[in-house]
Amino acid sequence: MPGERPLLANRASDELSNGRDLAEEDALLTGQPTQRDGPRTWKFWRELGLFVWAVLATTLVIILAVIYQKSQDPKHTSPHPNGKRNLIFMVSDGMGPTSLSLTRSFMQYQNGEPWSRQLVIDQHMIGQSRTRSSSSLVTDSAAGATAFSCASKSYNGAISVTPDHEPCGTVLEAAKKAGYMTGLVVTTRITDATPACFAAHVNMRSEEDRIAEQMVGDYPLGRVVDLMLGGGRCHFLANTTEGSCRADDKDVISLAKSNGFNYISDRKAFDDLKGGKALEFPMLGLFSPTDIPYEIDRRNENDIYPSLDEMAEAALVALSEATKDSEKGFFLMIEGSRIDHAGHHNDPAAQVHEVLAYDKAFSTVLEFLKNDPTEGIMVSTSDHETGGLATARQLHATYPEYLWYPGALANATHSAERLDLEYKDYLETSHPSTSDKAEFVRKSISEGLGIKDFAQEEVDKLLTEPDTALYQYADMISRRSQTGWSTHGHSGADVNIYSSDPKAALALVGNHENTEVGDFLRNYLGVDVDAITEELKQKGASLNVQAADGSEVSWMGPIPEDGQRLDGQTHLASYSGDFRKRHLVHGRGCDCEH
Ligand SMILES: *[C@@H]1O[C@H](CO)[C@@H](O)[C@H](O)[C@H]1NC(C)=O
Ligand SMILES: *[C@@H]1O[C@H](CO)[C@@H](O)[C@H](O)[C@H]1NC(C)=O
Repeated sequence: MPGERPLLANRASDELSNGRDLAEEDALLTGQPTQRDGPRTWKFWRELGLFVWAVLATTLVIILAVIYQKSQDPKHTSPHPNGKRNLIFMVSDGMGPTSLSLTRSFMQYQNGEPWSRQLVIDQHMIGQSRTRSSSSLVTDSAAGATAFSCASKSYNGAISVTPDHEPCGTVLEAAKKAGYMTGLVVTTRITDATPACFAAHVNMRSEEDRIAEQMVGDYPLGRVVDLMLGGGRCHFLANTTEGSCRADDKDVISLAKSNGFNYISDRKAFDDLKGGKALEFPMLGLFSPTDIPYEIDRRNENDIYPSLDEMAEAALVALSEATKDSEKGFFLMIEGSRIDHAGHHNDPAAQVHEVLAYDKAFSTVLEFLKNDPTEGIMVSTSDHETGGLATARQLHATYPEYLWYPGALANATHSAERLDLEYKDYLETSHPSTSDKAEFVRKSISEGLGIKDFAQEEVDKLLTEPDTALYQYADMISRRSQTGWSTHGHSGADVNIYSSDPKAALALVGNHENTEVGDFLRNYLGVDVDAITEELKQKGASLNVQAADGSEVSWMGPIPEDGQRLDGQTHLASYSGDFRKRHLVHGRGCDCEH
């Protein structure tokens, strides 16, 4: 538009100089009368009009050009040719639409809010994601996160590998290659499926020792993650060290340090990061041996573990500062990891606090995007639903009433997981008498679950079947709140997609396949993920390692025994009358395989 200005000005001066003497032109320009006598001609007035018109038109064009430029959001006219951008991808693991209904009603009950009050996340819903994997209509978190990281479907258990066990490049790896900074923030083990899928490639998700090595850079691409905050320390410690859960004596903390990582492992060191302002890259922060405790328990142990929101904020502050003079921004994945675990445990009290913690981190990300000068977006979704959660439950054979009671969730002060751990610990260390045991159980129910009307059968069952205590505690809360569950595993429900910017995330508005979320991530950053896939294949081609049994396998580890059938539409497992075959095996609902 500014280009039109000289064009108009030239035309005006051309017309003016056409067939007229210089004195007259001078007079017009300076406003002084000419020395020539005689009446002013029609030609004079015509040319004066033309000149005035030209000046006015030129001025108008300048004004319009300035207004036009001003109206452009400075964030969208980045000085960088490729457009500097930040992408924050949030994953609410195992959170289906009913988790929101449950948590919203709980929040309203607890805070005395009207029924119209929404969660923050409610106000940003843009669409839904379909979640099936290549091997099942019900995905796991590994295949779910591979759909995000690689934008392709794979089998349950796959950590960014294809159904034929080739590595697939991830959006984080491609972002790093393109000059972005990268980060992962979780409340579970950093080696768990969702974070692993962004910076590791293994054929079986259970290989968390191998995942730990890869995530600190011991794999074909070297170090690709600049920041990791979460739990899962035990997979980084040599089996000769206390607190290790590794099968071998590799010291992955030392490996990380030799690749440049700064390593921290406790609350004090986290506080020393000063909310991210004093964080030095690359950073590995592992604040718990395995998972960080559920928020319902952690809130009373705030001096030991940082919250999801605190970790997310520190990551945002540090990444923003570190990229402020860079051509590229950052890619950060933040996971509310344990919404899923509360679903596996069928523990509605633990779940509502996990979702509220996620909602808080969600608000922090929105606030960051509002204030940060760099263009950016947040997209949030789930990998799948967990538990087949229903905000209703039929307790008796008679036709049920239509209701559920959030009050029973508000009275619980601990998760079922914590009460189970305390009970098992008590049994192991105290070898109590029967009456002491009964007293302990009654106290855990009345104080831990806030349940005063417990029945003798409920106490007796905890005494005689301590192995299933986790599920029993959770069931006591679920029955009293009339919360329904259809499984201790995942379900095939569609999950919601949220974004800070529905316009920029237009491609995700409506109902989409989960791989389209993956497509969006790479497209938003404008990175070449296919080139990473090629690089992984080339550099990894002759890179074999030893499996646990001593045999030689690819760097992605052994292939699951049923791995070959886990491919494509036609090979879905088919019905085999399983409902009659298996007996319910209770136990710790949730360790590694979900
Ligand atoms: C520790 O790891 C080494 C191999 O790295 C193995 O030989 C040893 O058996 C392991 N020890 C334990 C207690 O698992
Ligand atoms: C919650 O605790 C209060 C106070 O002990 C009690 O009056 C109420 O009945 C409890 N609510 C539920 C649903 O158990």
